[in-house]
Amino acid sequence: MAFPGQKQCSLAILLPLIILAVGISQVWSRKLMNDDEASMEERYEEWIIKHGKVYNNDEEKQKRFLIFKSNVEYIESFNAGGDKSYKLGINHLTDITVEELKASLNGFKRPQRGSTPPTPFKYANVESVPSSIDWRNKGAVTSVKNQGFCGSCWAFSAVAAVEGIHAITTGQLVSLSEQQVVSCDIHGRDEGCNGGYMEGAFQYIWKNGGINSDANYPYNATDATCNATAEAFEVAQIKGYEMVPANNESEVVKALAHQPLAVAIQASSLHFQFYSGGIFDETCGYELDHGVTAVGYGTNEAGTDYWIVKNSWGTEWGEGGYIRMKRGIGAGLGLCGIAMDASYPTA
Ligand SMILES: *[C@@H]1O[C@H](CO)[C@@H](O)[C@H](O)[C@H]1NC(C)=O
Ligand SMILES: *[C@@H]1O[C@H](CO)[C@@H](O)[C@H](O)[C@H]1NC(C)=O
Ligand SMILES: *[C@@H]1O[C@H](CO)[C@@H](O)[C@H](O)[C@H]1NC(C)=O
Repeated sequence: MAFPGQKQCSLAILLPLIILAVGISQVWSRKLMNDDEASMEERYEEWIIKHGKVYNNDEEKQKRFLIFKSNVEYIESFNAGGDKSYKLGINHLTDITVEELKASLNGFKRPQRGSTPPTPFKYANVESVPSSIDWRNKGAVTSVKNQGFCGSCWAFSAVAAVEGIHAITTGQLVSLSEQQVVSCDIHGRDEGCNGGYMEGAFQYIWKNGGINSDANYPYNATDATCNATAEAFEVAQIKGYEMVPANNESEVVKALAHQPLAVAIQASSLHFQFYSGGIFDETCGYELDHGVTAVGYGTNEAGTDYWIVKNSWGTEWGEGGYIRMKRGIGAGLGLCGIAMDASYPTA
């Protein structure tokens, strides 16, 4: 039997309870939000220490914090998305935007030319290639380097290809001087930290009669004046360079089976900026803006074909400074345009 007034009675008790509960949950969620914000700030402080970051003032630091926070949230939500063939991670580039990355780290300028390669392709008649190759295991790839905040990727891309052919033909793996190319290759279209072309770098090294070592002419990430004394001391020579016929991944494989290649890609995306491992299969577009070096190819356990690409953003980026990019995507251009503009020095 119902107790008269039970309804009113229960409401009278419930309402304050509900109000109290809502109030507590609001306070609680605000506290959680503050905790999130606080823990993001803690992570930022730890990140600053880890990377030795120095900001000019608090305003700059706060501006960088907001970029850091938005990048960290992007990375975490991407990774939580599951079922991806690659992962993103927080790295030393987490306080810059993708626009800043493009403006200061990329620096590849696409040469204007017709569809016919200007040089012969000496691997045109290659008929069989190994199913995989990794020039790192053959002593033809130096340690991963870091271009710093200088758009000199084109010099790193070309120099790594020269290091490769030099090691293959002489048996000596020598780290060669990007700074020489950045500072001394200034009479053509190349513009040091403002960008350039791998072809221009090969032309410069060839016409200069060679290139000095990194040890003799060290990198300092600026457009410093060319040191003519260091420029005149050659440690490695090339006889010229050739282009891989554009837009055909099998032609790239034929050349890469014989030596590391300078390749251009579109790299200005958050996916590329924070790539931390796995097989990158993101469609990035074909607006080539970054020079890197292809140092091998292979196939993983799942049967996915990939390129092994050496970047020049230090070892914290990607797989110790490298990225594996999906190979054989069906479009001749290759993932991110990797088959559009491949070239190599001859020795
Ligand atoms: C870079 O090298 C040039 C020439 O050797 C030198 O003048 C300049 O001070 C160096 N800069 C840094 C930051 O090391
Ligand atoms: C230029 O290179 C020479 C030879 O490597 C070196 O002795 C000299 O200190 C360099 N000059 C500058 C300004 O860095
Ligand atoms: C790519 O090059 C190969 C020779 O290596 C040729 O047989 C093939 O037709 C070319 N593919 C395209 C799409 O041009």
